[in-house]
Amino acid sequence: MQTHFLDLNQLNDDEIMELIRLAIQYRDGKLVQLKRPVYFANMFYENSTRTHTSFEMAERKLGITPINIDPKNSSVQKGETLSDTVKTLQAIGTDGVVIRHKTTGWYEPLIDDERIHTSLVNAGDGSGQHPSQSLLDLLTIYDEFKKFKGLKIAIVGDLLHSRVARSNAEILKRLGAKLYFAGPDEWYPSDFDNFGEFTNIDTIVGKVDVMMMLRVQLERLNEDARESFTAVEYANIFGLTEERGSKMKKKAIIMHPAPVNRNIEIADSLVEAPQSRIFRQMQNGVFARMAILTSILKSKDLIAEDEYEDIN
Ligand code: CP
Repeated sequence: MQTHFLDLNQLNDDEIMELIRLAIQYRDGKLVQLKRPVYFANMFYENSTRTHTSFEMAERKLGITPINIDPKNSSVQKGETLSDTVKTLQAIGTDGVVIRHKTTGWYEPLIDDERIHTSLVNAGDGSGQHPSQSLLDLLTIYDEFKKFKGLKIAIVGDLLHSRVARSNAEILKRLGAKLYFAGPDEWYPSDFDNFGEFTNIDTIVGKVDVMMMLRVQLERLNEDARESFTAVEYANIFGLTEERGSKMKKKAIIMHPAPVNRNIEIADSLVEAPQSRIFRQMQNGVFARMAILTSILKSKDLIAEDEYEDIN
């Protein structure tokens, strides 16, 4: 049983499937009772619309009281370290802290500190992992195909800066999907060769079951790269244009973690096209996060009802 939720690699395949099934049960209306009042702090050092809101929604649906802390108005501005912030939130009485931070692996020094026993939830670490996004992506793919093994999945775009790409590449490969990557050469991390094949979008668009497009993360580029970036050129060479979309298999789906740069990595008209599951992903995010938080509550014996046990 996991006290922290940091990386999907900490879970085996059965545990991942268990979280997916639990998320589906929550979507179908499952409820739980807590043994006592439970408090989680949400701290987003990087901007977020979906992850922050859906963690808060998941907390409220589970009966957890969310405490939202804006780092811009906190003592982080006076030089407080992340470790001291977490220990402070723990001393005040939080059972868990959901954190998004620009530092890849922000949680590593904290989990080795035996004075920290509040649960840590990774809501995205730099260019490292985005495990709750990955779980909601798995749920969205599972909804559609009821399997992962043998699916052909393309992850396309800014692979270098995308924690979503890394989380999904690792887990989808482990679950048996055949992965293809496409995007600019300079944004291809060579270790992705361990997970799939680097090709180009035109070669794969008509073959895959899932086209997972990634946001161009201009904010992570240096000034020279930002200045030389041209949206129209990117869309023409690497984007899911209407023309490319028309070549997709009939039952293939379009995914994107969002926020979306419309008409850069994906044509405006495809964002809400029948094959798009982009808003479904956001909806699933609430239920996937309810499942994640439940696994933490369970590890701390905070669930009164026995319903969690019936998920197998
Ligand atoms: N997909 C995602 O992480 O979105 P936010 O940055 O808005 O949370």
